Amino acid sequence: MKDNTGHTVREAFSSNLGFLLAAIGAAVGLGNIWRFSYMAYANGGGAFLVPYFIALFSAGIPLLILEYGLGHRAKASAPLAFAKIHRRWEWLGWWMPVFVMFGIMFYYQVVIGWCANFTVFSFTLAWGGDSQDFFLKQYLGLTKGPGELGGLRWPIVAATALMWGATWMIVYQEVHRGIERACKIFMPILLVTTLILVGWGLTLPGAAAGIQYYLKPNWAKLQDYKVWMAAYGQIFFTLSVAFGIMIAYASYLPKKSDLVKNAWITSLTNCLHSFLAGFAVFAVLGYLSYAKGLPIDQVITSGPTLAFVVFPEAISKLPFLREVFGILFFSALMIAGLSSGVSIVEALTCALRDKFGISRNWVVTVLCLIGLFGSLIFTTGGGLYWLDIVDHFLNQYGLVLCGLLECLVIGYVLKAGVLRSHVNSSARVKMTVAWDWIIKYLTPAILAGMLLRSLYSELAKGYQGYSLSALLGIGVTWLLATLAAALMLSVYPWDPVRLQAEHRPEADALFR
Ligand code: PHE
Repeated sequence: MKDNTGHTVREAFSSNLGFLLAAIGAAVGLGNIWRFSYMAYANGGGAFLVPYFIALFSAGIPLLILEYGLGHRAKASAPLAFAKIHRRWEWLGWWMPVFVMFGIMFYYQVVIGWCANFTVFSFTLAWGGDSQDFFLKQYLGLTKGPGELGGLRWPIVAATALMWGATWMIVYQEVHRGIERACKIFMPILLVTTLILVGWGLTLPGAAAGIQYYLKPNWAKLQDYKVWMAAYGQIFFTLSVAFGIMIAYASYLPKKSDLVKNAWITSLTNCLHSFLAGFAVFAVLGYLSYAKGLPIDQVITSGPTLAFVVFPEAISKLPFLREVFGILFFSALMIAGLSSGVSIVEALTCALRDKFGISRNWVVTVLCLIGLFGSLIFTTGGGLYWLDIVDHFLNQYGLVLCGLLECLVIGYVLKAGVLRSHVNSSARVKMTVAWDWIIKYLTPAILAGMLLRSLYSELAKGYQGYSLSALLGIGVTWLLATLAAALMLSVYPWDPVRLQAEHRPEADALFR
């Protein structure tokens, strides 16, 4: 797009509401229902909720404000926004979207594919009486371990390819139209179907015990650093913080925008939705525990399969319109996932265009093709193990480490006060100096402490019984490979002419 002086201007959201819908669309995704539920179950229900909300207020919201401020101030996607602070930090701006796109997205799209398959299964309630057996054995064809791949599962491959195709189409159509339109329709559907499942779930026998397990804090478990680590990892994941997405999205906002308000709305909407969905999950777990006569923490295998066992079970228990309901629920979940997936392709596209000026359509096409190829490993019979390991590493180490570095760069290199005054300039309720302290001391201290503690113990004891070689081979290599790619992208020199055209005054800072 060109303005009347012939300079290129960035595309913009048509309104603050449009931005909010897109930001909420990026945040609300599979993380809210699929990932949240198994994190909460694996970490003891009520034991997880306390760290979860502490993580939200001590890191999630402050960092979201930071990312909105950074993108808005620099009017640039993550790499350029960091390069403007200091060229030395540009790699960080690349690492975030790169490891999300070439890591998290590979398996995320596969899980959206599961949703697509389950939309179809809903027509006949194909999971029958034992949804766990159906999912693990018949659908996934789960092998014995990550070393045994067991071949591609074709229905999953097909659904994943379809999801990459859909992502490609939405991003190809440009920022405002594609994303806004899809979010406006499907977010409300997701909310309503979740609400109905909660309402109905609560009437099942045993539900009360499930809800008690969900809500009752387990103070003893709070001493377990693993629960805290999982909670911080989940907050980063669910808010899409340290993905580079929110930086890119905020760069599309008009000059006068209340970033503080936007950050509160995005994060509260997102986390309350998860909290709500948790009622449905634990009500059903309570019911299963009643039906099987087992304690709640033993009724099903915890892990990434949980939502696909619990929700089908809940749907089968509805008194009427089960098929319609299943179709609505899984397709809404699929769209919520798609709108998140779209946001990272958008963020990396925006970054690559900022730096290399390549055509948007070309970037989008190549990214989606690589994505599809990268997803294949997760569509095999052993894919679930790979998903578990990669997800664990990229979230708990990658996202948390990036979040920590973000705090340090903004806190000490740019100076937290500088960003705060930018954000405050158009905020109705202004932030106090407390935010600076959080960004400079509190959040980095918590994140660094947890990272070191967890690294130490995992090197000694491993994670979830996987062998150390599987962990290091898959998890660590993945992190290092994406870091190498980020470093390479960042050393490539900026083209001063294009930069000057797109970002006139700010561009100078880069060449000083
Ligand atoms: N916040 C998203 C969610 O909760 C996470 C995500 C965003 C994953 C973008 C992939 C791409 O689902």
